[in-house]
Amino acid sequence: MEVILIGFMGSGKTTVSKILAEKLNKTVVDMDQAIVESEKRSISEIFEDEGEEYFRKIEHEILLRVLRTHDGILATGGGTPLRIDNQQILKKCDVPVILLEASSETTYSRIKADSGRPLANGLSAKQLESVKRQRVQRYNSCADYKIITDDLTPEMVVSKVLA
Ligand code: S3P
Repeated sequence: MEVILIGFMGSGKTTVSKILAEKLNKTVVDMDQAIVESEKRSISEIFEDEGEEYFRKIEHEILLRVLRTHDGILATGGGTPLRIDNQQILKKCDVPVILLEASSETTYSRIKADSGRPLANGLSAKQLESVKRQRVQRYNSCADYKIITDDLTPEMVVSKVLA
């Protein structure tokens, strides 16, 4: 593995990972996409049919598998660092873990039109901020580096990752 990207929903993990992969000539595993492929249903359907705990279990199993088998870039899901065991895995792996950070306003504006995120659907900017606030410490605890992305284009974020 070359790089692991973590961060809240809308922080840019998926977009940045794709550009990064091109620059490094590596492939990306996007955790959400891997879960959808493995489960053969959408993230929303998994949450609806099975609940969050089941989703987190699959997410954990995929994290373990990807770390064992993938040599490239990993874009985690926004909730991957929530589980203690995932935090420990991310902390002790010898791959740079990069936290993409954005203000609540930026996050809200990036994700409000997307209905594919069951934990953000229908939340006001304030509610989203509260969810984000509860997670900040966990993100920070796993990260080797942090990049504030509010005023940066994805390309600028990629340059920072490479630097
Ligand atoms: C989640 C983030 C989503 C997805 C799921 C749960 C979260 O990933 O894994 O909807 O708990 O923050 P993105 O960060 O790619 O949106």
